Amino acid sequence: MPDRTAGLREAAEHAEAFLATLDERPVAARVDAAGVRDALGGPLPERGEDPAAVIDALVAGAEPGVVATAGPRFFGFVTGGALPAALAADWLVSAWDQCAAFHSLSPAAAAIEEVATAWTLDLLGLPASASVGFVTGGQGANTTCLAAARHAVLARAGWDVEHDGLIGAPRVRILCGEQAHATFHTALRLLGLGAGTAVRVPADGQGRMDPDALKEALAADAGPAIVSAQAGNVATGAFDAFEPIADACSAHSAWLHIDGAFGLWAAAAPATRNLTRGVERADSWAVDAHKWLNVPYDSAMAIVADPDAHLAAMRLAGPYLVADPGQRDNTNYVPESSRRARGVPVYAAIRSLGRAGIAELVERNCAHARRMAERLAAIPGAVVLNDVVLNQVLVRLPGGDDANRAAVAAIQRDGTCWLGGTTWDGEHVLRVSISNWATSDEDVDRSATAIAAAVAHPTRTVP
Ligand SMILES: Cc1ncc(COP(=O)(O)O)c(C=O)c1O
Repeated sequence: MPDRTAGLREAAEHAEAFLATLDERPVAARVDAAGVRDALGGPLPERGEDPAAVIDALVAGAEPGVVATAGPRFFGFVTGGALPAALAADWLVSAWDQCAAFHSLSPAAAAIEEVATAWTLDLLGLPASASVGFVTGGQGANTTCLAAARHAVLARAGWDVEHDGLIGAPRVRILCGEQAHATFHTALRLLGLGAGTAVRVPADGQGRMDPDALKEALAADAGPAIVSAQAGNVATGAFDAFEPIADACSAHSAWLHIDGAFGLWAAAAPATRNLTRGVERADSWAVDAHKWLNVPYDSAMAIVADPDAHLAAMRLAGPYLVADPGQRDNTNYVPESSRRARGVPVYAAIRSLGRAGIAELVERNCAHARRMAERLAAIPGAVVLNDVVLNQVLVRLPGGDDANRAAVAAIQRDGTCWLGGTTWDGEHVLRVSISNWATSDEDVDRSATAIAAAVAHPTRTVP
């Protein structure tokens, strides 16, 4: 019998050792890609190596270049950790090695995606009849949802975009807030709708789309239209006003998409649910699992209220592709054909936390953000720029762009925590995002102290 487990024990030991250091290792990487290339590159091996030796070498070479993004003091981008049950389930996904495209290839994967679909819709307060595709990330979710939107608005105009493409099709108007996430524009590009065609509706000081301006923009023309709103601005955490936006969309038969990559999880917690009021009136929603649900990368959900539109845009069929009528073929909801059983870690994450645990996670991280904002506001001259309604904090330090850039670099060099900069209102500022299940009050306080020290001495180098 072939040895199918060679290297697994070593991988588990290395993983355990890594996870044991995650709380205390410097958050930033110790080397850049060149350092890892030096260790792991070189000519193509002519002969194979023992799997355990490959794993040992891989770990030795890669570890210095690994960033502790899964740790409790990584506050860059919007980054979740990996819940133990989700991580363990992810290992099983690889061991089972299911091609989760068709029910015929994996009834287990089909059933688990069905269950994870129902649980996700319940948690987010979305219609139970909606369909869910388990995709790689917010980018994939936005693209999948907009493909369904493109199908529906053009079908209503008598055009079959899946069959006839876009050449000669009625023009589709795209409207979004001026703060729409970059991946929304990439999705437009990928779908042939054109990133440059989007009407960017003005937003307020927190990045919320102005619903009256949207109404006016919609009324300015007729024809098929897709509107994208946002649950959770990537800088401020702010939510668009979904009720008036949904009213405007209904009045003009426009498809309403909501990009809720991280913010949609606010619907799962009593303390933040009010931010998402009206969200259930949309036609599609993008939400990540690898952010606030703390599922390992990569994992997200593309949710569409009308399963027929979803299927029309994504369905895969061919003579040898054994589809089971009446069964869920996961591929029909995502752009990929062959794919891993991405729903399994989502299932494990939700089951391990339960409704109460997910609410608690969201509320805890929001409390962390408020605590961080308070601590950072105490730095002389620092100003918290956003209403801290969720898990995001934007801070401007005195001294202009150069001082803010230098502070970000010093914070990253120090290694206690990691945060990134962004531009807000034309100025370079610090950006903190907290969505890790393991972050504690102590992590926040320790990070705030390190940030204050780096701000005070931005050029000090850390040994
Ligand atoms: C609002 C929003 N949409 C989309 C994305 C992209 O998500 P992903 O990186 O998972 O593709 C992000 C990432 O932070 C986001 O905040």
